[in-house]
Amino acid sequence: MSLKRTKIVDIFDASLVGQQVCVKGWVRTRRGNKNVQFVALNDGSTIKNIQIVVDLAKFSEEELKPITTGSSLCVEGLLVESQGKGQTCEVQAEKIEIYGTADPESYPLQKKGHTMEFLRDIAHLRPRTNTFGAVFRIRHNMAIAIHKFFHEKGFFYFHTPLITASDCEGAGQMFQVTTMNLYDLKKDENGSIRYDGDFFGKQASLTVSGQLEGELAATALGAIYTFGPTFRAENSNTPRHLAEFWMIEPEVAFNDITDNMDLAEEFIKYCVKWALDNCYDDVKFLNDMFDKELIERLEGVLKQDFVRLTYTEGIKILEEAVAGGHKFEFPVYWGVDLASEHERFLVEEHFKRPVILTDYPKEIKAFYMKQNEDGKTVRAMDVLFPKIGEIIGGSEREESYDKLVKRIEELNIPMKDMWWYLDTRKFGTVPHSGFGLGFERLLLFVTGMANIRDVIPFPRTPNNAEF
Ligand code: 4AD
Ligand code: MG
Repeated sequence: MSLKRTKIVDIFDASLVGQQVCVKGWVRTRRGNKNVQFVALNDGSTIKNIQIVVDLAKFSEEELKPITTGSSLCVEGLLVESQGKGQTCEVQAEKIEIYGTADPESYPLQKKGHTMEFLRDIAHLRPRTNTFGAVFRIRHNMAIAIHKFFHEKGFFYFHTPLITASDCEGAGQMFQVTTMNLYDLKKDENGSIRYDGDFFGKQASLTVSGQLEGELAATALGAIYTFGPTFRAENSNTPRHLAEFWMIEPEVAFNDITDNMDLAEEFIKYCVKWALDNCYDDVKFLNDMFDKELIERLEGVLKQDFVRLTYTEGIKILEEAVAGGHKFEFPVYWGVDLASEHERFLVEEHFKRPVILTDYPKEIKAFYMKQNEDGKTVRAMDVLFPKIGEIIGGSEREESYDKLVKRIEELNIPMKDMWWYLDTRKFGTVPHSGFGLGFERLLLFVTGMANIRDVIPFPRTPNNAEF
């Protein structure tokens, strides 16, 4: 009769000591001498390994030979208090079944430390490392925190389409979706491609944001959020950009920009607190291994109010810094789209806490943002974070039909694709606001990882769609 398996996360429970247990997992290391061998076994349920003590009086060297790093085992034995340092209990092996071997000559995850670049090349195996186990457990927990936060606040989780015919951000960074034969494209008399024979009967793409459909829902259900994959064909090879990332987009009827800022601040703090409360072992591991200030930075965000100031005030601070001798790579002037170095200067050096910048020049923001009376700025808000720069982008939305149509015309956005969106302003329009949080940017902050490719299991970036 074989025993029921206990997950390693549950094995460190004092009440199990003295009982027969069964654990299953992958070997991290094996060491020892000719009398006794110690196998560190991990099953992914926790950063902690369970130590398996193998008495060579009970097992032959030959039997143990296939137990190498990466091999998979089922072990039955007595759970006892451990004499060794660093663990509370261990299993005295009585029965060992080897599920699968991992040839030390070819299994790439041997004991020595690997670079993050090397691990990216073996993204199919990297979840088996301590680091990526921790990151992906945290990723799961943050997704749960997000749903919990909004559900408890009475927001409805609303599913917006991934295939769309409209460019929400108007930045022309969309991946096209087509079933047309690319070797035989039909063109009209002007030489433009004819999409009437394509699958959707018109040009379609992967979405860059669920916001426009989110607004339809918010002006019906009151408060909604989306949480799904988002696609951007921007050719930015940076540690903060992915071609496929996940975004959370709340949208709330009757909220103005101040309500929107309050929601964003409460939301991020909730997520950070969740990580500290629910993923402490993993966060602590990342803190100790990679980034000794991680926990301090997470706790710091919880303690402080975010600074709120306008783009214009922000530019003034940056200009004063330049006048005082600070060197930026990119120029600073009113109207410029801030670079990450500018955002990080405000957050890390000037204020030393998160900053919400509002009221940006309309030229550098999307068509749907509420226009201010000055005719120059819009009610945008970006939340800027230490080490990250922009973590959230949002705004109060333009609720006036006439102003919105005028802006759409100014920007030459094809009106025929927008009729359904404009109907929200035609029928019972209301003030409303929302924002988008980049899920992987949040994870960069919470895990302290330096590159966004290391917080998503299978990153999609220019020239990379492996796995
Ligand atoms: O500022 P963005 O472009 O805003 C929108 O898409 C709005 N429709 C959101 C809204 O108001 N509902 O993107 C929002 C956030 C950014 O602040 C950033 O965190 C993340 O999405 N983001 C990216 N994350 C990873 N890779 C990329 N290429 C990203 N582009 C944006
Ligand atoms: Mg933005």
